[in-house]
Amino acid sequence: MSLDAVLARLDSDLPAATERLLDLLRIPSISTDPAYKAECDRAADWLVKDLQSLGVEAEKRPTPGHPMVVGHVDGPKGSGAPHLLFYGHYDVQPVDPLDLWDRDPFDPAVEETDKGQLIRGRGAADDKGQLMTFLEACRAWKAVHGEMPCRITFFLEGEEESGSPSLVPFMKENAEELTSDIALICDTGLFESSVPAITTMLRGLLGEDFTITGPSRDLHSGMYGGIAMNPIRVLAKIIAGLHDETGRITLPGFYDGVPELSEEILSQWQGLGFDHEAFLGDVGLKAPAGEDGRLPLEMIWSRPTCDVNGIWGGYTGDGFKTVLPSKASAKISFRLVGTQEPAAIRESFRAYVQDNLPEGFTVEYRTEKGSPASQMSIEDPAFEKARQALSDEWPRAAAYIGCGGSIPIAGYFKTILGMDSMLIGFGKDDDQIHSPNEKYDMESFHKGMRSWARVLDALARG
Ligand code: BES
Ligand code: MN
Ligand code: MN
Repeated sequence: MSLDAVLARLDSDLPAATERLLDLLRIPSISTDPAYKAECDRAADWLVKDLQSLGVEAEKRPTPGHPMVVGHVDGPKGSGAPHLLFYGHYDVQPVDPLDLWDRDPFDPAVEETDKGQLIRGRGAADDKGQLMTFLEACRAWKAVHGEMPCRITFFLEGEEESGSPSLVPFMKENAEELTSDIALICDTGLFESSVPAITTMLRGLLGEDFTITGPSRDLHSGMYGGIAMNPIRVLAKIIAGLHDETGRITLPGFYDGVPELSEEILSQWQGLGFDHEAFLGDVGLKAPAGEDGRLPLEMIWSRPTCDVNGIWGGYTGDGFKTVLPSKASAKISFRLVGTQEPAAIRESFRAYVQDNLPEGFTVEYRTEKGSPASQMSIEDPAFEKARQALSDEWPRAAAYIGCGGSIPIAGYFKTILGMDSMLIGFGKDDDQIHSPNEKYDMESFHKGMRSWARVLDALARG
């Protein structure tokens, strides 16, 4: 009964909730670009104020980078309900290439389309729209009941899209304050448009950004071509050698710690009926490019990858320039699974590069730290309760799924604070996160907040 009142409140308040989200989306909180530092600060201030309006004791907490927002609110006295921590991130990805946007990325709007209403703007799905689904559920709960269903700690980060440099020290320094019974993270997606999901596997991430230098300066390719080795040729060979013809990554030791799926998970995933042709068809592709003999879902969720994210060198301007360049560069990233160790893979990669450098060539790395994969334990009965609550909201039952992306904090909650994480999100595959024209379906936003109200109700009941 009381849940129904909260759900009704969320329905009637949707226009106002949408305005609040649009307001947050207008703040260009791009964390990687120092030019937007003040804007990240403004987004943190906005959230502090919004949390305070819910009766949460919230503060902006400084870090060497962008601030964290931390808030606390009590639930009913003596209820025995768990203490929840909610995590989301208020920073967003850069917007370029800007000319591919159909509107100003920070002048968001609700668009009426034949697929329903879409909230368009940078951060709509990753992660401002998602984090607001939780805040809106709390707002409605408070409006109906006068207090929250249980004790909640809010932890909102502003550096997720730039590798979270301040996160681990902050968590260590504030471990006692942040430790709760379970963490709820809203930064993942639905399985399919109408199938809600709890994500139980995340891949890790390791990036290598490097420059190979051969000749001491750019050379005339007529005068030196043939006798001088071209660094772009060296780089191309290095990159081409990273995969074999079966799609396996060739680095020695790379597959150490990559587990085979249990029969149980394998059959569960097969039961999901993933339509990989439609998934690839949506982005203009046909054939899966992973290792031979692997299921398409394994390729995205449980197998490691190596991708070239960018490659540059030599003359790329208009016209023709017969140059033999001095340098060639690339950014390569690895998605990691199981217990693959970022440090061991970095070492293996660098040894491979070194082995392939002609005499006299040098290589320089600009690198950020990596993060291992994480596997959630779903033994806590809270998981089944939440799964049931999600199944009540959506037309189809909720699934336990994997996720190809990386959210390093889930691992840190476990290793630093000893907490399990429950990853629930409402993004769709076509949200275009990190890309031009990012959007969040109004359905995701609306059903997302309704889902959280149901999950809070289920968890608080104990
Ligand atoms: N929300 C994403 C993670 C994600 C991606 C979830 C795809 C579901 C589907 C998160 O904000 C993100 O982009 N993570 C980065 C890693 C980070 C260290 C830059 C990623 O996965 O590339
Ligand atoms: Mn995100
Ligand atoms: Mn992201």
